[in-house]
Amino acid sequence: HAPLRVALVGLGTVGGGVIRLLQTNAALIARRAGCPIQIVAISARDRNKDRGVDLSPYEWVDDMTTLATRDDIDVVVELIGGADGPALTLARQCLSAGKPFVTANKAMLAHHGLDLAALAEKAGVALKYEAAVAGGIPVIKGMREGAAANEISRVYGILNGTCNYILTTMEKAKESGNPRGFDEVLKEAQELGYAEADPSFDIDGVDAAHKLTILASLAFGTELDFDAVAITGIRHVIAADIAEAAALGYRIRLVGMAENGPDGLFQRVHPMLVPLDHPLAHVDGSLNAVVAEGNFVGRLFFQGRGAGDGPTASAVVADLIDVARDEYGDALAMPVAALAQQKPADAGKR
Ligand code: NDP
Ligand code: HSE
Repeated sequence: HAPLRVALVGLGTVGGGVIRLLQTNAALIARRAGCPIQIVAISARDRNKDRGVDLSPYEWVDDMTTLATRDDIDVVVELIGGADGPALTLARQCLSAGKPFVTANKAMLAHHGLDLAALAEKAGVALKYEAAVAGGIPVIKGMREGAAANEISRVYGILNGTCNYILTTMEKAKESGNPRGFDEVLKEAQELGYAEADPSFDIDGVDAAHKLTILASLAFGTELDFDAVAITGIRHVIAADIAEAAALGYRIRLVGMAENGPDGLFQRVHPMLVPLDHPLAHVDGSLNAVVAEGNFVGRLFFQGRGAGDGPTASAVVADLIDVARDEYGDALAMPVAALAQQKPADAGKR
């Protein structure tokens, strides 16, 4: 099939990851998508910044507002960030113009998701956001598709890689007898590409609350309501807190939890004492985990890398593959002979 032509706006940690992933796995992605996925246009703030990837094949666009109505672009990917501002303007323009839109921007979705979904529905186009919650974990698909038949009573988890990296790195450093300070470890998380442009969104629990807002809405079919989330971050957690929790048989994790009960929907994000026999106590580093409890499926546990270029790009490109499949049909719903590249080895001969 003809290539799916992509405009990529935002060339930072995630945008760079998307370019590398599309370059590295081009052939495999084309097979699975049913067509090549090709970036044709790119945009960011600084045209001259060295981004460590070859951008010469792509057209640089200064005015991203022109992308929404270009006939030679099939889908726009927004990786700028920010609840309002240029990301929101672009999203509104694209969806109103009937252009499929892929984003990793949980802040924008938590605040404006309903409006954007309404625009997408009206125009009959895709609005995809797998990367917005828990980075590389396919939790949006898991909730929308895998758990779709269930009544969900509770959804909770570790939703911020930066905080988890800080807490678990401080925990391990303390255990090894070389305690490390909060600020130093936060700086490391920033260098690894985990943190938001403004890291107070991470450490004050706001980013986890954005993600919880989206998850809760998917799990319970309720309106996105960020303002209803009670939020406490980890800014004031010190090494001594971690040591005292450990002495009592607990680990400190920043947990987001949404519960739907007879009194309504409760959403909260705060540091919790997690007992060692709970799987969340063993989610380390930039990993995230999401637990959902359904009335037929029981407890679902999703775990994987929740931040950083590779995992997040993986989710963004999965959305692009979905957009291509919407266009051309699901090439890999069931592998057909023409797609099979390699036959499984005969296990009996091993
Ligand atoms: P970065 O800060 O690394 O990159 C942001 C990019 O957006 C930069 O290329 C920047 O341009 C560009 N940009 C910023 N403002 C403007 C503007 N006004 N006009 C045009 N371009 C602009 O962010 P990330 O890649 O880390 O994050 C991108 C999005 O993905 C955010 O919504 C974030 O929340 C989300 N996300 C991030 C994850 C991660 O692990 N980092 C994981 C999951 C989601 P320039 O480079 O020229 O300055
Ligand atoms: N800053 C976010 C985090 C990026 O640390 O989890 C992934 O959404």
